[in-house]
Parts: sequence; structure tokens; C-alpha cells
Amino acid sequence: MLRLYFGESNLPTPEFIKRAAQKAMADGFTFYTENAGMPSTRKALARYYSEIHGVELDAGEEIVVTASGVQALHLAIRCVLDPGDEALVLTPAWPNGSANVRMANATPVEMAQPLIGDRYGIDFEALEAAVTPRTRMLLYTSPSNPLGWVATEEEQRRLLEFARRHRLWLMADEVYERLNYLSAKPATSILKLASREDAVIVIQSFSKAYCMTGWRLGWMVARRDLAARAARLNEFVVSHAPTFTQRAAETALLWGEDGIAKMLAGLRENRDLCLAALQKIPGVTVPRPDGAFYLFPRIDGLGDSFAFCKRLLMETKVGLAPGVAFGAGGEGSVRICFASEKRIVEEAMARLSLFLRAG
Ligand SMILES: Cc1ncc(COP(=O)(O)O)c(C=O)c1O
Repeated sequence: MLRLYFGESNLPTPEFIKRAAQKAMADGFTFYTENAGMPSTRKALARYYSEIHGVELDAGEEIVVTASGVQALHLAIRCVLDPGDEALVLTPAWPNGSANVRMANATPVEMAQPLIGDRYGIDFEALEAAVTPRTRMLLYTSPSNPLGWVATEEEQRRLLEFARRHRLWLMADEVYERLNYLSAKPATSILKLASREDAVIVIQSFSKAYCMTGWRLGWMVARRDLAARAARLNEFVVSHAPTFTQRAAETALLWGEDGIAKMLAGLRENRDLCLAALQKIPGVTVPRPDGAFYLFPRIDGLGDSFAFCKRLLMETKVGLAPGVAFGAGGEGSVRICFASEKRIVEEAMARLSLFLRAG
């Protein structure tokens, strides 16, 4: 079976990070630590932001290390929403954002990102119309899973202005920031545009950039009052992320740049070969992803992406994720994860192409 439905790279965690975890265990990093994460890990993250983004953070007050990106998302949403509140969520998106909003007994209001020409955008008029007295936050993901959309600075500025004007928390899921095909730099973080007094939260993870999905390690950057609240809440959830993995993550941050650059070169090749294959198929519209490792082609006349993916799997043994799983605006498309070996991606595209041409 050719599995392109996953949300992770097929690359294993780099050896130097695994060795750092073994050493951390041997060195005794096996005890409880602070709810917000080890001070040394938070300092390493602050240094990362300074070097990679040119953003200065207070390691003691604005960063919370979490046991995965999804745990950061959970903590942030729990801290912001009360039962009955509403959250605007830009979709199609990884469904865990809306699911976490529901778990807080609040309502996700999914706002489909329109395809304008060959690029996804944001419908700001629709956002204005969707705000109610119960709206508390807006969640967006850039680079996007599943769209591959990377917010421009102008779009981020407008989102920030919108959030400020309506007194909303702006939550940016930036877990794919290093997978940016537009430049050698990471995608622009909202932290670069926001002041430290803005109601902004960034959700982050070691999973995608460092091939550490199974480690369950992430972090959050937030205004200090929210970060303090999240750290307190963490006590009752997992207390803190594992200590020796935090130690290993410090090494990943220090020495991970070459690995990221190498991975990105391979991903770009895969993206381009998938794009070339899909663009040749009649009835398929496929915007070029500028980030992350997904393509989200729209297939003319597709009304049930789940049934389509099931039939594709049964008949060709190619596994894709149905667009309907990603919320409003997702139906009619499928998600292809191209973070796999080149020969697997190539073979999957050949089979998909035959399947679609056969109708
Ligand atoms: C958009 C997005 N945010 C967050 C995550 C969570 O990553 P993790 O929980 O592995 O850190 C994922 C994982 O697929 C994702 O796609």
C-alpha cells in the first residue's frame, strides 16, 4: 500500500537528537521539572527565535514547553474559551483545532479560505460578518495543513488588525514554519509583527521540522498572562513535557539546521513532481503549495471525497486523506502528503492519474 494520507515525514529522527536523549537520560534528566518546561529549554527556544526570526522573547515568561503541538493547542484553547464562546477557525484545516474548541464546550465557526486564482486567500468580509459578542479567538494555520498556503505578511497584518479591533485572541499554528518553499528562511511568524502586549498565541512543535512526531514535544509562545495561565493548567494535564526529551530538543535546536535544509530540498523535489503529474490530469485543479508537505487538489464533480478515497484505496492501494475531514471548504478535494520516498510518491501519482482518467 502507498500511504500518502499521513501527516508526517518518512524520515527517522536524526541520530544526533536520539543520542542527545540517551545522554540526557544517562545524565539524570529523569526527574520532574517546571510546568512551563525546563528553564534551559525555554532559553534555547528564546535563542532560536532571536536567531531564526529576529524576535526577542522572555524565556521565563512568554514560552511554555508542551508535550506536543496538539497539547499546546489544547492548553491555549482551554485558557481562552469559556463554555458558549465562539472561535473563528480558518479552514480547510487540521481538524484538531475545531475539535479542541468543541471540547471546551465552545463553538468553532469554520471560515473557508477561498481559492483566488491559483492561491488561497482570506475572506476578510466574511470574517467581519461572522463576529458575534461571543467570539473570543481566531485560529489560523500557516503554513497550512492541508492547503500548503503560507500567509503573506500583509495577510498577517490584516489578521492582527482584525483581532485587535474585535478584541480577539489571535492563535497562529506555525508548526510547519520551517517547511517553506518561498525562501530559504522560515515562514514569517506572527510574533515578528505583533507586540508582546498583543493577544497572540503561537502553537509550535518539534514534530515536523526535526522528524520527532513520536516524541510528543512542542511549545507555545504567548502573552505573559496567558503563558502563566497555561503553565498552571499544565500541572493538571501532564504537569510538564518529559525532561530528557526537552534536553534532546535543545540539541535539535542548536544543530538541526543542516538537516532541515536537506529535508526541504527532498520535499521540494517531491512537491514539484506531484504538481507536474497532477497538472496533466483533466478536471484537477491544484494550487501550488508554498509550505508544509501537502497538496490539496480539487477534483471536478467530486461530491463525496470519503467514498472516493475508499474506492481509490481498494482499487489502486493508494491511501489519501479525504478533503471532507478538514472542515468547511474541504469537500471536493483530497489531501496528498508528499513527505515520502520519491519512488513511492511517483508510483502513487501514476496510479492516481490512471484512476482519475478512467473515471
Ligand atoms: C497544523 C498542525 N498543527 C499541529 C499539529 C500537531 O503536531 P504534534 O502534536 O505532533 O506536535 C499537526 C500535526 O499533524 C498539524 O498538522
